[in-house]
Amino acid sequence: MPNQIHHVGVAVADLDESIRLYRNALGAELVHRAASEAEGLEAAVLRVGDDEIELMSALREDSPVGKFIAKRGPGLHHVAYRVTDIDVALAGAREAGLELIDSEPRIGLHGRRIAFVHPKSMGGVLTEFVEG
Ligand code: CO
Repeated sequence: MPNQIHHVGVAVADLDESIRLYRNALGAELVHRAASEAEGLEAAVLRVGDDEIELMSALREDSPVGKFIAKRGPGLHHVAYRVTDIDVALAGAREAGLELIDSEPRIGLHGRRIAFVHPKSMGGVLTEFVEG
């Protein structure tokens, strides 16, 4: 089972500007930045104290994050939970009746094994499991 929140994902219109904002406003430290052409996404991981925030911007308007921003505007995109074994966590989620977006774990943009759970199973919040 998940044992703590791993990070919160925020969809932003301008990644560079948002990184500056989070650095200046929160003293956040940029720890990783990567883009995926396939997912139409660029994302940055920032550390705030012991915790992480993931800022995400769209490379294309028709990408999932682009569509999210077009529909809802920038804002909270997902909550990620840390799990020690993602295969076990996904089996548990399936057993609990949750609808999985990723039926199998995949390697996320930041090199970790991840899987997403559909927001309709989680009170309207897109939910990510991160192994680590
Ligand atoms: Co994430």
